Amino acid sequence: MTTRLIACVNFRPFSGQPSCAGRGSKELIAWLEAEIARREIDVSVERIVCMGHCPHGPNFRVWGGEFVHHADEEKLGELLDRIERGEVTTP
Ligand code: FES
Repeated sequence: MTTRLIACVNFRPFSGQPSCAGRGSKELIAWLEAEIARREIDVSVERIVCMGHCPHGPNFRVWGGEFVHHADEEKLGELLDRIERGEVTTP
């Protein structure tokens, strides 16, 4: 069964407000999707516009579950490790 992840792609270039895309979320999504393909695991990444945790971005989330704030390749890689071990699933 597919494990669903959510990624914020909100971008606020002119407002002075923090935004996940402004902090590299799109590049992280590209890395994450490549890593998912490399591992050949059943994980989807859905793009959304803001999940209300803007100061803590880039923000990712397990659908209906835990957040990954201040996401980077290390944190997302650890999440994929846990998914591979069956420790993280989505409804
Ligand atoms: S801009 Fe990403 S959570 Fe709001």
